[in-house]
Amino acid sequence: MRIATLGSGLMTAALVPHWIAAGHDVLIGGRSIEHARSLARRLDVKAGSLADAAAFGEVALLAVRSEGLAEVIADSGASSGLLEGKVVIDCGNAVYLPDFSQVRWDGRSLAEQFEFQAPGSRVVKAFNLCHADVWRTPTTYGGHRLKVPFCGEQGAKQIVAPLIEAVGVEPFDIGDLSQARHLEAMAIVMIRALRNGLPVRSALNLIPSDA
Ligand SMILES: NC(=O)c1ccc[n+]([C@@H]2O[C@H](COP(=O)([O-])OP(=O)(O)OC[C@H]3O[C@@H](n4cnc5c(N)ncnc54)[C@H](OP(=O)(O)O)[C@@H]3O)[C@@H](O)[C@H]2O)c1
Repeated sequence: MRIATLGSGLMTAALVPHWIAAGHDVLIGGRSIEHARSLARRLDVKAGSLADAAAFGEVALLAVRSEGLAEVIADSGASSGLLEGKVVIDCGNAVYLPDFSQVRWDGRSLAEQFEFQAPGSRVVKAFNLCHADVWRTPTTYGGHRLKVPFCGEQGAKQIVAPLIEAVGVEPFDIGDLSQARHLEAMAIVMIRALRNGLPVRSALNLIPSDA
């Protein structure tokens, strides 16, 4: 499958190697073409602009700081429908915004707002609850694989589930994209704990009872 990235930072660097290893064709896209090229060289894949990425990918990983979302939506052509029919994996959190009310004016998540502003895109929220180090080299927790909650439209989730498995973690379907607001809220709990000293590879995990 052709996978593009909108963003060439820490999350892209952590997730994409798993998809390359699984045999997918990857293009790293970014605001700074130099950053995108530098990561692409390291991973031995293609690089391009945000618009190149939107055009290339059947699936796009949206991995930009939330303060840059509006710019990315415009510069990738997403607002003009360039992501129509494409699956967008949104791993973002609103932690970089000085004022959360700027993006939560109507109670929708960043993921829902992106889907609304990128006509025809099929957004799936995933990977937002753990630090990039966890995704780079996933581990087990008390002998249990990490369960990764993800949400979105059914057909899009069927495409994303194997990509979650390719990372070495377990997909956990929590419903449609309206559930993304809960994942983004959970992430705030996690990020505050990490900032207060919780070890970086810690995770919120769902562990079924033995009873
Ligand atoms: N890092 C983590 O551990 C982690 C974990 C879970 C979720 N997340 C979330 O995942 C998303 C990506 O995180 P990351 O750590 O990969 O971020 P990052 O490394 O800091 O940056 C990712 C990308 O954001 C772009 N960017 C930054 N400011 C921008 C702006 N004002 N306009 C346009 N683009 C801008 C950068 O573009 P340039 O290359 O051009 O600077 C870069 O390609 C964020 O929403 C974050 O909250 C992060």
